[in-house]
Amino acid sequence: MKGIIFTEFLDLVEQKFGLELLDELLLEANDEGIYTSIGSYDHRNLVKLIVLLSQKTGISAEDLQQVFGQSVFLNLYASLPNKASLGECKNSFQFVRLVEDYIHIEVKKLYAEANPPKFEFISETETKMVFDYKSARCMSHVCLGLVKGCAEHFNEILEITMTSETADNSHVRFYLSLVE
Ligand code: HEM
Repeated sequence: MKGIIFTEFLDLVEQKFGLELLDELLLEANDEGIYTSIGSYDHRNLVKLIVLLSQKTGISAEDLQQVFGQSVFLNLYASLPNKASLGECKNSFQFVRLVEDYIHIEVKKLYAEANPPKFEFISETETKMVFDYKSARCMSHVCLGLVKGCAEHFNEILEITMTSETADNSHVRFYLSLVE
């Protein structure tokens, strides 16, 4: 998994819980904490850090994933090289489609070892979108947070529900409903 995901995560932990807790976390995880945004690392390291952080803080791993996804959205957005091509993208539904049809494809072209999730679109109206999240990384709550961050960016309020389609959450259906 791309290092930017790790560096963002460690920054967020430091910001929310402080440097001392971040140091403890890395020590317990046997993780030297040396990540660069352009490097690639085993995604299980991130899972391990989230699980340990959950144990230390008493916050569920799902909630931690979600807060992380939400806060990382703006930084991922800011990292997009050519904002002009996003000009026509006016709302969250269009952006989620763009992520599947363009952004994650570019990510894979740039970094052969990257493995972003796959979205399969089931239905869409002006106010409702249903899509399936599929990923062996099973980070559907990061996905939830990213969609929330995306809605915030477009000044929209979305009601989001999810249903697990497999026990390991490698396949999760998302129901988005535009409130305003
Ligand atoms: C609504 C917006 C987005 C959603 C819902 C989304 C969803 C996700 C999720 C859930 C992951 C974690 C891996 C997984 O679950 O398989 C991920 C990974 C990633 N995403 Fe996105 N994403 C969004 C926007 C973006 C944007 C704007 C970028 C900009 C470059 C981006 C680049 C990446 C990268 C680099 C990874 C790591 C892939 C890897 O190294 O394996 N995403 N995305």
